Amino acid sequence: MAEMSIHLDTDHMARAAADYIVTASQSAIAARGGFSIGLAGGSTPRVLYGLLATDAFASQIDWSRTHVFWGDERCVWPDHPESNYRMARETLLDQVSLPPCNIHRMRSELEPHEAAHEYEKTLQHFFANHSVAGEHGAGFDLILLGMGDDGHTASLFPGTQALYEQDRRAVANFVEKLGVWRITLTASFINAAATVLFLVAGASKAERLQQVLHDPYQPDLLPVQMVRPVHGRLVWIVDSAAASQLS
Ligand code: 6PG
Repeated sequence: MAEMSIHLDTDHMARAAADYIVTASQSAIAARGGFSIGLAGGSTPRVLYGLLATDAFASQIDWSRTHVFWGDERCVWPDHPESNYRMARETLLDQVSLPPCNIHRMRSELEPHEAAHEYEKTLQHFFANHSVAGEHGAGFDLILLGMGDDGHTASLFPGTQALYEQDRRAVANFVEKLGVWRITLTASFINAAATVLFLVAGASKAERLQQVLHDPYQPDLLPVQMVRPVHGRLVWIVDSAAASQLS
């Protein structure tokens, strides 16, 4: 079951997403004593992370019981301008009282396969030993995702090897068109989440969003279509520019 809300602009979109995340954190913590969230990279989430860092929202989240992960990471050092970890740290993590041991960074400075293998172990350990695992015990309480204008999400790019990984939770993925390695969660692990929340903004995404939602299932071209939570909720929070071609 998918839900979509369309918002006037990116500020209203970010506010709706922040409200959603606060509510999800409160219900997860009330139900299981903790909240596990996977963060998206790229630029769209910046406005959301900045909002979550404000007292109005940060004060509504129990950061001591919140565990932060990433959906993907560039294979760069954590202080590199391209690092998704650095972006989240600067816009959110450094502004809130999150215990360092609750921050589960992909160590993307390692050799890609080594970094992915280590993250696989991190996820295995966490979801085997923490009662905070998603309500079906297998995945995140909430994972935040963006969508590239080519239809990728996390670092699941069209035509790449990682699309069809069924057993692992996290893998290294060579992205031919960028000529780079990435670390990414797999579609199957993303789909184990209790909630998948897509945040999509801007006119540049409008045509692709229309295709993702209304064209036939073609995951090799539109990896976003692989995101179908097994038990969880699929939520789209978009701005009017991104939604401008939706029938
Ligand atoms: C990344 C992201 C990626 C992102 C999309 C959209 O590492 O770049 O995880 O999947 O969500 O590329 O990026 P924008 O929000 O910058 O458009």
